[in-house]
Amino acid sequence: MLKLQGLYKSFHPGTVNERTALAGVDLTLNPGDFVTVIGSNGAGKSTLLGAIAGSFYVDRGRILLDGEDITYQPAYRRSGQIGRLFQDPSQGTAPNLTIEENLAIAAGRGAKRRWISSITPSQRDFFREELSLFEMGLENRLTCKVGQLSGGQRQALALLMATIRPPKLLLLDEHTAALDPAAAQKVLEMTQLVVQRGHLTALMVTHNIQAAFSVGNRTIVMGEGKILKDLTQSQRQSVSPGSLLAYYV
Ligand SMILES: Nc1ncnc2c1ncn2[C@@H]1O[C@H](COP(=O)(O)OP(=O)(O)O)[C@@H](O)[C@H]1O
Ligand SMILES: [Mg+2]
Repeated sequence: MLKLQGLYKSFHPGTVNERTALAGVDLTLNPGDFVTVIGSNGAGKSTLLGAIAGSFYVDRGRILLDGEDITYQPAYRRSGQIGRLFQDPSQGTAPNLTIEENLAIAAGRGAKRRWISSITPSQRDFFREELSLFEMGLENRLTCKVGQLSGGQRQALALLMATIRPPKLLLLDEHTAALDPAAAQKVLEMTQLVVQRGHLTALMVTHNIQAAFSVGNRTIVMGEGKILKDLTQSQRQSVSPGSLLAYYV
């Protein structure tokens, strides 16, 4: 489904600020894999997701999505197949547009006709139905400006926007880290729901080791630009989260 082969990425090469962010990453995701990613600050987790999404090109290596070589495909072309959420809920949603306008833009992504014509009643019903899945009352606030929502509500909307046209791959970069514990828990539950429902393949970076081990079916541990551990579901059950702290040093 996703195949990463020998990925390398340095920032500011040849200067005193040179940072090697990816130092030879090989990873294969099978269809339906929901992989959580942990590792210390600066381990290369965000860089890995950025490389997959096309925020920059890697220095070396290959990225294959469903057999297609996307290594040098620009980010805007990948965005039709790859959904992405960030820590900051304001990335991915437009604050001055309403909930339904945001959803209409997301639903039209990748389509040939890109402008938003007026939202039809059947579209509105569809948005309402999708939002009601989250049980946050958002389905009754379709014409509310997104800037008025709480961080958790906004991240829920961003999650729906990223998946309303099911992507081949969903990338989540600490998307619950900026939320209060209750909202973080809620968004995490919704994430599992959305991934299961759509049979999506996903990579989720988290600082919460407990969440990393209870969500999805596989966990990778990153450090110094490499994948240090790749734990299957049964391996995750036999490893104590505490023993992983060694990788954070
Ligand atoms: N845009 C950038 N410019 C310069 N250095 C960067 C940039 N992005 C990441 N880095 C560096 O690359 C390394 C990996 O960063 P990052 O992928 O953000 O780590 P993580 O998400 O695991 O905390 C760090 O040393 C970081 O300082
Ligand atoms: Mg990061």
